[in-house]
Amino acid sequence: MPTTLSAGVTTGQPIDMALAEAMEAYRSRNPHSERLMIEAAGVLPSGNTRSVLYYQPFPLSMERGEGCYLWDADGHRYLDVLGEFTAGIYGHSNPKIRQTIVQSLKDGLNLSSHTRREALLAQELQRRFVNLELLRFTNSGTEANLMALAVAKVHTGRSKVLVFDGAYHGGVLSFAGGGSPVNVPHDFLVGTYNDLNSVEAQIATHGSTLAAILVEPMLGAGGCIPGDPAFLNGLRVLADRCGALLILDEVMTSRLSVGGRQALLGLKPDLTTLGKYFGGGLSFGAFGGRADVMQRFDPSRPRSLGHAGTFNNNVLSMAAGLTGLTKVLTPQAIDALNERGEQLRARLNRVFATHAVGLQFTGLGSVMQLHATDVPVRNSVDVRSEDDRVKALLFFDLLEQDVFMARRGLVALSLPFADVEVNTLVETLHKVVARRKGVLPALSSTSVHEKART
Ligand SMILES: Cc1ncc(COP(=O)(O)O)c(C=O)c1O
Repeated sequence: MPTTLSAGVTTGQPIDMALAEAMEAYRSRNPHSERLMIEAAGVLPSGNTRSVLYYQPFPLSMERGEGCYLWDADGHRYLDVLGEFTAGIYGHSNPKIRQTIVQSLKDGLNLSSHTRREALLAQELQRRFVNLELLRFTNSGTEANLMALAVAKVHTGRSKVLVFDGAYHGGVLSFAGGGSPVNVPHDFLVGTYNDLNSVEAQIATHGSTLAAILVEPMLGAGGCIPGDPAFLNGLRVLADRCGALLILDEVMTSRLSVGGRQALLGLKPDLTTLGKYFGGGLSFGAFGGRADVMQRFDPSRPRSLGHAGTFNNNVLSMAAGLTGLTKVLTPQAIDALNERGEQLRARLNRVFATHAVGLQFTGLGSVMQLHATDVPVRNSVDVRSEDDRVKALLFFDLLEQDVFMARRGLVALSLPFADVEVNTLVETLHKVVARRKGVLPALSSTSVHEKART
């Protein structure tokens, strides 16, 4: 077993030197986290059982959370601007959700049966997402997408699935950089996000065998790149034209309004997939949409499709999810959070414009992503040549100032976030950028910040 974990930094350029210094400071500040990761590496590969959490030299080990703050194994308190990659919209241990969980524990966990809770949660989701004529629960967003694709293939009797470069629909449905070797073996076609011509070209050749178009209304893990309304509405038209189902993956974008991004755009998908916070902070997934498609799972019908899952209707996710939606995440609360996010993103981008550095945050509402480029970002090609060292440097510098965001640059606000936290994040970024200005990229000739500076 190693006694230290490798930093993996090359030396030479000023950015390398700055990053090596920041990582060394990080290592000295976090001996307990490092020790825990070294011990875990004896049983989990590099101590990891969830790929997105890993970064070099070693990730932080968190001990507890409260509101929108986290405490790590070395006792540092962080402003949590990551919000569990969007699943933590309620913040840590919302009192109403906690009370529901405690009550549910008293009533017993594994009841081997239907309970009234799953229908109540499904009704609440249907009230919000009007296109969910019928739905079913899963344990994760990944499973929801797997089931949506499976039923789309059965329903259409076709085999191909169109997805987009840079999209992420789960660990086995990941399409960044040419796709993942552990992807499920569907017959995938890969289009270019925000480029309807690329979709038309695929459909011209494969339209008659296309079962589904699966798309995120905003590329989430792919960098918070919003889909143009014309692109997303165009997919609806093209799917209809060739007889494929349009599956909208709203696992991340559902939080953009009470009815998700589809409500904002007036878009009517055939199927929608959901996940993240709808289980009140516990494991959750759902897929649903057109009744004629979803009725294929109706177990009272002959030759119905199976959709098993011991924990599909688990008591805690159903109960916590229902309380979250009915008692906490009101339409007003969602709108206010997204408005806060819009203002925050504008302020963060003003920090970059003020210091004339070629960085930007893209995104929508309460979800945003740091990019080490200031050119307009519309698809994964636009971010492919980003210098990851820049993001790493800002990540470690922000940690040193007690701000915890994703190593890849994701920021997702939670409900406890108030003005004071917004100001803290903006001021901390300002301080970090001012310090590192000399090693950060300069403004480009097509900078999105030019307007803000003139
Ligand atoms: C758009 C999107 N789809 C699907 C998933 C997978 O969800 P889960 O991690 O619950 O399997 C994610 C997770 O980040 C996601 O962002």
